[in-house]
Amino acid sequence: MAEQEAGETGVSGADGATFRQAMSRLSQQVHVITGIGAKGRCGVTVTAVASVSDDPPTVLFCLNRSSRTFPLFEDAKVFCINTLAGEHVPVADAFAGRGNLDTDARFALADWTTMETGAPVLKAALASFDCRVSQVIDMATHRIFFGVVEATTNGADTARALTYYNRGYVVC
Ligand SMILES: Cc1cc2nc3c(=O)[nH]c(=O)nc-3n(C[C@H](O)[C@H](O)[C@H](O)COP(=O)(O)O)c2cc1C
Repeated sequence: MAEQEAGETGVSGADGATFRQAMSRLSQQVHVITGIGAKGRCGVTVTAVASVSDDPPTVLFCLNRSSRTFPLFEDAKVFCINTLAGEHVPVADAFAGRGNLDTDARFALADWTTMETGAPVLKAALASFDCRVSQVIDMATHRIFFGVVEATTNGADTARALTYYNRGYVVC
């Protein structure tokens, strides 16, 4: 296959570093995935979320199997995708492990409720997708969790989204 042509400020190739550099050009919404694992409630900040199907409503998220959070999620049968609003930078940081807060201290930063599955639902989320795990697939370094959506919430039309772009938070 022909070598990829470099952009004006880019480099060609596809090793991990150049892949991550190109991925930094994608603007992605920030979510906290919550779950109920073997040790109780757990949560982690991710951008790797996607809609899979609307029949049945199905979503996925990807979690690095070498992260400290992974063992907490490993046996989870339920999860909730909590899509963050602009005000949730401290929540995003805490669930990304910044500040080294324990699980209770992370959850204490916001108000939570539950819907159908019992997974924690962020009350002020832009949207929440309460899911039962339907399948998991290990792919390279990550585990892909698929979930059938049992309940959703959505915030106000005027709410602003928390995104991650060029290695920093952007509210839009
Ligand atoms: C904006 C943002 C997006 C992230 N997206 C993902 C992701 O999609 N998947 C993932 O496994 N980790 C993601 N992380 C990293 C985790 O939140 C966490 O920081 C990482 O797993 C290291 O935490 P540990 O202390 O559990 O090892 C993201 C972190 C940030 C700040």
